[in-house]
This record gives sequence, C-alpha cells and structure tokens, in this order.
Amino acid sequence: MSFRHSRIIGTGSYLPPRAVTNDELVRELAARGIESSDQWIVERTGIRQRHLAAPDVTSSQLGAEAAARALEAAGLRATDIDLIIVATSTPDYVFPSTACLVQKALGAPGGAAFDVQAVCSGFAYAIAVADSMIRTGLASRALVIGAEVFSRILDWNDRGTCVLFGDGAGAIVLAGDERPGVLASSLHADGRHESILRTAGNVANGAVIGHPFLTMDGQAVFKLAVSVLESAAHEALARAGMTTADLDWFVPHQANVRILQATSRRLGIPGEKVVVTVDRHANTSAASIPLALDVAVRDGRIRAGHHVLMEGVGGGFTWGAVLARM
Ligand code: UT7
Repeated sequence: MSFRHSRIIGTGSYLPPRAVTNDELVRELAARGIESSDQWIVERTGIRQRHLAAPDVTSSQLGAEAAARALEAAGLRATDIDLIIVATSTPDYVFPSTACLVQKALGAPGGAAFDVQAVCSGFAYAIAVADSMIRTGLASRALVIGAEVFSRILDWNDRGTCVLFGDGAGAIVLAGDERPGVLASSLHADGRHESILRTAGNVANGAVIGHPFLTMDGQAVFKLAVSVLESAAHEALARAGMTTADLDWFVPHQANVRILQATSRRLGIPGEKVVVTVDRHANTSAASIPLALDVAVRDGRIRAGHHVLMEGVGGGFTWGAVLARM
C-alpha cells in the first residue's frame, strides 16, 4: 500500500545522564596542560554543557531509548514499525548496522533496517529517504533516529574540537497518511570539501588504519554552513510554495549558536522562532535535530498544524532541509 504523504506522529529523545559543564571540562583539560575557558566556549559557540555517555554505552542503546519514547508518544508498539533508519557516524560496529541493533533491542523484527551516513546532515537525509519509501509503498510506519556517541571519536587533546560535541539520540515516528506532513525536502553534498571535517580512519587487517579522531577546519566549516543552510532552506520552501514568513519554527542542526543566528538572520526568521538546544546538548551531530525537535514538542512550543523547517549541515560536505507540517 502506498500513501500520498508521510507525517510525524511522535517524537522522542534520550540523553546519557552525565552532564559535563564547561567548567568541569576546562578543569579536566587543564589537568593535562590544555588551556581553555568557559568564557571562550560560551562566546564562540554558545555551548554551556554536553552529555557524555558512559564508556560501555553505544549509539544503538541511546537510539533504542529515544525510539521507545517516540513510539510511546505515537501510541504505537514496536511491532507496528516496518522501517528503521538510523542516522549515525558513530555506529556500534562496522556491521551489522546500528538500525538492526535498534530493531533487535525494540523487538520489532521483519521490517527494513539500515543506517544513513551523512554526518550532521544524517537526520535530514534519513527523513527524506523514509518519506520517499512511505510514498512509494516500501514502508508504512518508520522510526527515523539520529544517534551518536561522538565523544568516542574526539581527540581530547585538541581543544579546538573536543569542547564542541556531545552524545545523545532523538527519534521520530513517520507514518503514511493521506494528509500532508512532510511537505518538501532538499538534499545536497559536495565531496570536494571532504577534508574540512572528517574522521579519516577505519579498521582493516585487525588494526586502525588512518586517523581515528575527528579533525576540522572550523572557519571553513562555519562559512560553508551558513551559506548552504540559507540556500537549502529557500529550495525546500520553494518546493512547497512557501516562504520563511509561513514558518512557525526553525529547527536547525545545533553546532554553534553563531551559525544558528547568522543563518536565521539571513533567512529573516526571528530569533523567537528558532529552537536552540546547543547550550545544553552541544553538537550531537545526527542526533541534534531530533533532540531539539523533541524538546520543543514536549515543552509545548511545537504543536499540531505548525510548519517546521529542519536543517542539517556537516561532514561530506553534506547539507539538507526538510519542511514538515506537524
Ligand atoms: O556539525 C557541523 C560541524 N561543526 C561546525 O559547524 C563548527 C563550525 N565552526 C565553528 O563553530 C567555529 O569555527 C569554532 C567554534 C570551531 C571556532 O571558533 P572561531 O571563532 O572560528 O575560532 P578560531 O578557530 O579562529 O580560533 C580562535 C582562537 C585560536 O587562537 P589564536 O590562534 O587566535 O591564538 C584558537 O587556538 O581560539 C583558540 N581556541 C581556543 N581557545 C580556548 C580554539 N579552541 C579553543 C578553546 N579554548 N577550546
């Protein structure tokens, strides 16, 4: 059976319990002779704390917790789901996919399950793929999850990156419907910029090959991010015959509050319509959009009928926008 549309019918999220403030992290860095400060981190990024997973906790575990909450919000059981897509750059294993592990944890065998690798744009990519699969009849009810333990790929001696990221997961249930939900998407990549943000390592022949930690040219990423977030927003809105004035909420990838502010200024979206969680969650890569979405749904800001623009941008270089009516 195919549906004309897919709709978001439930959201959920999960953060590992340990919240680490800037001051706590700065003290840990100082103990190893690395200088930083709460003031620098707050002024340059807006980040005040991040959640870090315990050493034995994996992306699939965080993702399964978030998914269970989204299912509960949707009033569904795991066995009602016939598609699970996990956006992650920190999978539990090389294989099987994190999505298969989430499926096992939820007890929902039989449907399709796979991961999407588009780094911080992964959640936008995953919604667009799930929406397409629902509209073409390949699935009817999907769990779309962003889950990351980015702390595992950070070089804790690189102050330019280790203060920026956190762990967590967010999820939505996307269900086939005759009423419009996902209105338009826009996905892009430009592999020529692959080297400005990457973790250029892998496992082969029983060893780590390459560099297993995240490296970033922060200023190059910053400039590109602001520019492509603007163009992707306009493209998705135009596909739906809408403008930024029609938006109730903007839920961008949470990397840096200055990127959020610059992008919303360029788009003419007032600050009070922008959901900001980077101060509490830091950058959780593919998990940041569904985490922010769930926060704003649960605190009552985002309500049924609202038009929400979600946007991701990150390594690859990748970027994407998804416009949805809740
Ligand atoms: O998910 C998508 C991926 N990520 C992003 O979107 C991140 C995009 N980039 C950014 O958010 C910003 O470029 C950063 C927050 C990473 C850096 O901010 P910036 O304003 O571009 O700073 P900068 O890299 O130009 O560094 C300025 C100074 C440097 O010192 P000097 O060379 O001026 O003496 C850095 O060494 O700040 C220094 N610095 C630090 N100082 C204290 C870098 N990291 C730290 C730190 N604490 N943690």
